[in-house]
Amino acid sequence: MRRGWTAAVAVSLAGLLAVTACGGGGGEQGGDGKQAATKVEVFSWWTGGGEAKGLEAMVADFKKKQPGIEFVNAAVAGGSGTQAKAVLASRLQANQPPDSFQGHAGAELLGYIKAGQLEPLNSFYDEQKLREAFPQQLIEQITYQGNIYSVPVNIHRSNVLWYSPAVLKEAGLSGAPKTIEEFIAALKTVKEKTKKIPLSLGAQWTADHLLESVLLGTLGVDAYNALWTANADWSGPQVTKALENFKTILGYTQQEAASTDWQVAAKNVVDGKAAFNIMGDWAAGYFKELGKQPKQDYDWAASPGTDGVYMWLSDSFTLPKNAPHRAAAVEWLKICASKEGQDLFNPAKGSIPARKDADRSLYKDYLAWALEQWSTNKLAGSMWHGVTVNDRWHTEIDTAVGLFLGSRDVPKLQQALAAAAKNSGQ
Ligand code: GAL
Repeated sequence: MRRGWTAAVAVSLAGLLAVTACGGGGGEQGGDGKQAATKVEVFSWWTGGGEAKGLEAMVADFKKKQPGIEFVNAAVAGGSGTQAKAVLASRLQANQPPDSFQGHAGAELLGYIKAGQLEPLNSFYDEQKLREAFPQQLIEQITYQGNIYSVPVNIHRSNVLWYSPAVLKEAGLSGAPKTIEEFIAALKTVKEKTKKIPLSLGAQWTADHLLESVLLGTLGVDAYNALWTANADWSGPQVTKALENFKTILGYTQQEAASTDWQVAAKNVVDGKAAFNIMGDWAAGYFKELGKQPKQDYDWAASPGTDGVYMWLSDSFTLPKNAPHRAAAVEWLKICASKEGQDLFNPAKGSIPARKDADRSLYKDYLAWALEQWSTNKLAGSMWHGVTVNDRWHTEIDTAVGLFLGSRDVPKLQQALAAAAKNSGQ
């Protein structure tokens, strides 16, 4: 029985905005009153290594099937959408939506839905026979008041420990650490025995990303999942322990310019400059693009303390209300939803398909491992990548972590996280 898709997005009947089932207005009108599908503007944050390649694979499929529609790539750079989401918010605010945008399944998507910014896709799901194509619990994460609002293209794993076999060998370590305690000991050994970076870190959001793995690795899956439910206890000793672990682990990272994104931090591992990096499996897509060899240039394991748990997230594409080229957006969503589109996109992106009927033979090395883990692991939702917290909570966690990177004050961080949970209104 799969657990941990999180109740955060469960359909709640209280205080709901009425979301109508009718389509958006505007758009180009052809002579027959129907929209002419001339171009489609697709918004994402996939501009960097691995990510852009995945998008390109799906765009190539789109261009082949829709040669008459110009594809406008409106991607805004910045890992995990840090910049893109701000740009998107102002466009939506100004009622200038792109034709389709990337959003994470879960609490993040619910924000757009509650704000009335998305069209329901129920009839699209019926026409494309999608209700059976995706796991039921994933559909629940994109459903509100009985309406489905996006098309998931993948499942990513957040809790992956990437490591350099060469650096571990140099440090005299025999394999990946399995617990947080072993991890801290291994970081210390790397520091003492080599000149390499023990744990490679990038921009601030990569510390937020690290935090969710340390919380999961310290608390275990049930207590981690309970953090994102109403009245969660953020003040207890176990959370204190997790935050102390976070502080200790951060002590083994290098200083990076705030502008250094996840690619640089991950590349340090495959270049043999760092022993470890905790990053989502989009790193697998990037390593593939770099031509690096799995099990030689890099290896992987569940992040310490999280073996048997898949901390999942899912990228999905939406149909915003008032999409200027609605008909073309629907054609884009068809590619996103299709088995062919997903099997082109995911091997390059470093994710497994959201569809249940993908061609498993296309998923090799790390991705073969991920597919197997996905079918056997317990589930936890990613905090940083949109599953468990709404925008407000997300921002407050980021602010608290940002201050902590300067102060390293655990009690202050814990207080701020407890307050963020209370303030979230989720
Ligand atoms: C995540 C997103 C992934 C990947 C990553 C790094 O939030 O779901 O697809 O792009 O950010 O940018």
